[in-house]
Amino acid sequence: MTSLETIVSLAKRKGFVFPGSDIYGGLAGTWDYGPLGVLLKENIKREWWKSMRKPHIFPLDSAIISSAKVWQSSGHTDHFTDPLVECKKCKRRFRTDHIEDTKCPECGGALGESRQFNMMFKTHAGAIEDESAVAYLRPETAQGIFINFKNVVDAFHPKLAFGIAQIGKAFRNEITPRNFVFRSREFEQMELEYFCDPKDADQYFGEIRAMRMQWFLNLGIKKENLRFRDYAGDELAHYSKATTDIEYRFGLSQDGFSELEGVANRTDFDLKNHFPEYHWTGDDFIKSDAGFVPNVIEPSVGVDRAFLAFMIDAYDEDELAGDKRVVLRLHPRLAPITVAVFPLVSNKEHITEKAKEVFDVLSREFMVRWDDIGNIGKRYRRQDEIGTPWCVTIDYQTLEDGTVTVRDRDTAKQERVAISEVAALFREKLI
Ligand code: GAP
Repeated sequence: MTSLETIVSLAKRKGFVFPGSDIYGGLAGTWDYGPLGVLLKENIKREWWKSMRKPHIFPLDSAIISSAKVWQSSGHTDHFTDPLVECKKCKRRFRTDHIEDTKCPECGGALGESRQFNMMFKTHAGAIEDESAVAYLRPETAQGIFINFKNVVDAFHPKLAFGIAQIGKAFRNEITPRNFVFRSREFEQMELEYFCDPKDADQYFGEIRAMRMQWFLNLGIKKENLRFRDYAGDELAHYSKATTDIEYRFGLSQDGFSELEGVANRTDFDLKNHFPEYHWTGDDFIKSDAGFVPNVIEPSVGVDRAFLAFMIDAYDEDELAGDKRVVLRLHPRLAPITVAVFPLVSNKEHITEKAKEVFDVLSREFMVRWDDIGNIGKRYRRQDEIGTPWCVTIDYQTLEDGTVTVRDRDTAKQERVAISEVAALFREKLI
């Protein structure tokens, strides 16, 4: 099992993720994504959007800063809390449910009474810092979807069932952010709210659960590292009738599995709260006593948590021709760099020129990296470690017959391919 330390160290060394505010001593629960992290995250998000490309799913990008009224109506002001105890001596705070003793785990001081702590980040919109200007950074993207439900209905007149999908940042003042990007204070969510007739809710719940599990499997996560876990009644959030987690074997808990994504049946809770007088009547959402309030099935996953699962699952160490190597076996569609281009030698003008031509052609379609430093073996290792699925080498033979060497990350096999066919080869492999 790959340890979290191994991933954290690779992530920093290779430019995937750096600790937030690092040069000033850090800020707990925040992380900065470096160049390769950005590319991997973008690819995860693109794959998610691709899975949402359906005629009855509408994309949305709602504001992060939102009115206090949104969170009063949604129940977050009252319920989005964690039980917390404070040490009377060192003033550190801990989640009550993480404490096994009556003493502070840091300094041994006495702990105070447990109280509820709201996890939303509060701010003020505008120049006046009074109660009327209170606003919040959203703790989930979902509410942005609910408050725009009527806008989408009025603009597109969709029939039930239909979905509204959103990717965006969410903020939670976690008392104990931990385990790298698994639990942080600023993170990104990919959420779909799927609105349906209440009588169809159980059916869609089952279908969406299965669809989301398949998404991870299609992107290469090993089956044995994923499982479903249904919530018991007393675990359910205030808005949910049924919830199933898709769990991944992150190796952070006793049996290794922790939540990767949640799929919840949120019933009519959110629409009822935001639009108390509205009902679905005929094919419209209008002020009326007749009709029903659509129910909502919500698959919700953290981009950062998915990022971590893909990194852990892809990490491997093996031996090639007697040489140890680290290899990230990321799905080619997720790999930050799709192709690396190597001129065999950097001091031969014709080879460099030809390699630049190949680089330019491939860059039109793929994320390509240029590397002309060190021997070819070292260049392969560097790309293996960041998960690049293919390396293309331009050598003396290229100048004679217009072919290049294409080397595969996983098998280390090499084949000669005509320059005119190389883009088509990758395009086909990426389907
Ligand atoms: N709208 C429903 C909702 O927000 P959640 O279970 O609180 O439900 C959904 O969050 C997903 O967001 C989680 O499954 C996880 O992937 C991600 N997530 C939640 N809190 C997180 C945190 N502090 N850091 C990173 N990811 C987080």
